[in-house]
Amino acid sequence: MSTLITNVGELVTNDPDAADLLGLRSDAALVLDDGVVAWVGDAADAPAADQVVDAGGGAVLPGFVDSHSHLVFAGDRAEEFRARMAGERYAAGGIRTTVAATRAATDDALAANVERLVAEMRRQGTTTVEIKSGYGLTAADEARSLEVAARFTDETTFLGAHVVPQEYAGDPAGYVELVTGPMLAAAAPHARWIDAFCETGAFDADQARAVLAAGAAVGLRGRLHANQLGPGPGVALAAELGLTAVDHCTYLTDADVAALRESGTVATLLPGVEFSTRQPYPDARRLLDAGVRVALASDCNPGSSYTSSIPLCIALAVREMGMTPAEAVHAATAGGAAALGRADVGALVLGRRADAVLLGAPSHLHLAYRPGVPLVRQVWVAGEATQAPPG
Ligand code: NIG
Ligand code: FE
Repeated sequence: MSTLITNVGELVTNDPDAADLLGLRSDAALVLDDGVVAWVGDAADAPAADQVVDAGGGAVLPGFVDSHSHLVFAGDRAEEFRARMAGERYAAGGIRTTVAATRAATDDALAANVERLVAEMRRQGTTTVEIKSGYGLTAADEARSLEVAARFTDETTFLGAHVVPQEYAGDPAGYVELVTGPMLAAAAPHARWIDAFCETGAFDADQARAVLAAGAAVGLRGRLHANQLGPGPGVALAAELGLTAVDHCTYLTDADVAALRESGTVATLLPGVEFSTRQPYPDARRLLDAGVRVALASDCNPGSSYTSSIPLCIALAVREMGMTPAEAVHAATAGGAAALGRADVGALVLGRRADAVLLGAPSHLHLAYRPGVPLVRQVWVAGEATQAPPG
């Protein structure tokens, strides 16, 4: 069944051949057919379709591509958040609280939590989501976390190297052996990516390198959490290995920035983290001016960033990180696609998957200009509308 979306006040195409970053078109229309974008043009020239949606002059954008989330968990850490807002610092060790709750949860409970959060994301315009494990930290718990994640997305990431769990506190080397051996073997059938938290209090560069190498040997592509809590070796390692993406990038040296530009590794910025840990925001302007590719993602997790909202991330990136609204929208769509190595999503041009968002607002600017306002009116995934029509 084909769908014509017409009377689009502003269409964000992200057409790489356009003169402007977002490939904006006014008074536009598009046709979604067979799961892909089948036609884009002026509303006045639109062809017939099986059904017609009047966008009412609203903006239509590519669906958001959230390339970094940790949705497989149980419990929450609201008390930790309260303490932070009273002056406590965020530390990697808080992850262990969620590990204990996750291990105690049933598969059904974990799946219900992921379903709830993916639905939240969807209502806010996210049409592609990456989901990591990392709160199981035994072979069985990591494998079942990924099995649950894979029910909701193809973009699953094995993050056994999230933190050293309590039972290995005295033997981090033994834990890395577990991660690179039996845990990887159990997790790999359910994962596309492998990740490690390369940070003081988690894993050092040699350990992260060992984890990524073991993953690569069984066909998993690498990504890293790096330079979140302070300067460190993770970003340089990601660039050296030519990883698709390196995430956080809050504390960077000039050499890190130059290395990212050279390697083409996407720097994924996660402003929900700085919001909820009260840390300084990453300097997106510095990265963009240096020619580094930038993505924005939610990092939705119960510790450092319990938001599922890409519109919030866009607003924070514009207000706090030196991005223009156009750059922030691009980073949350085409940028997220690049961070996942995906050529089929992130743009509304012919042949791309028909993932689109209709705003009850006339332009993409409103995502930052009207923070906290539920502007998303409809979301299509592969051409299928996912929200009830406005009634
Ligand atoms: O991306 N940095 C490591 N992992 C998560 C935090 C997880 C947690 O605190 O539970 C992050 O911020
Ligand atoms: Fe994360």
